[in-house]
Amino acid sequence: MFKLSEFSKIKIDYWISKFPSNQRHSSILASLLIVQNENHGALSTHLINLVSDYLKVSRVSVYEVATFYSMYEFSNLGRFCISVCTSLSCSINGSDDLMSFYGENKKIFNDNFLYVKPVECLAACGDAPVVFFGSKYYLNVNVEKFKDILKKFSRSK
Ligand code: FES
Repeated sequence: MFKLSEFSKIKIDYWISKFPSNQRHSSILASLLIVQNENHGALSTHLINLVSDYLKVSRVSVYEVATFYSMYEFSNLGRFCISVCTSLSCSINGSDDLMSFYGENKKIFNDNFLYVKPVECLAACGDAPVVFFGSKYYLNVNVEKFKDILKKFSRSK
């Protein structure tokens, strides 16, 4: 059974120390990411419970965070996620075309290393459609630009 590693505990403790002692909830976001990364990019019920126990916050609080934000995964889709905003501005400016392109070419680009995920508004609506990867925003992305992004970062080019 997976347990929190000492390294994860050190990293989680760092986040706990950043907030007042009565605000341990504030460490949930970072703690889940730490545990997810240690579990090859996916959370599970067991891992969420471990985070809840370690932070001494209610399980429902941790589940709420884990199921609300798009950066958490519950199955191993790949190592790195390219997020495509599919909210209104991006949708009417072409993000549906990006998702269709990915759907049609998934076999080429999905190599258990990189995967594409539709997400809610990435808060850059003025430059729709928006793609986010790593810590970088790609703005006004059309299918050609999207194809270049996929080629650049995919292992199976
Ligand atoms: S709708 Fe896509 S960034 Fe806001």
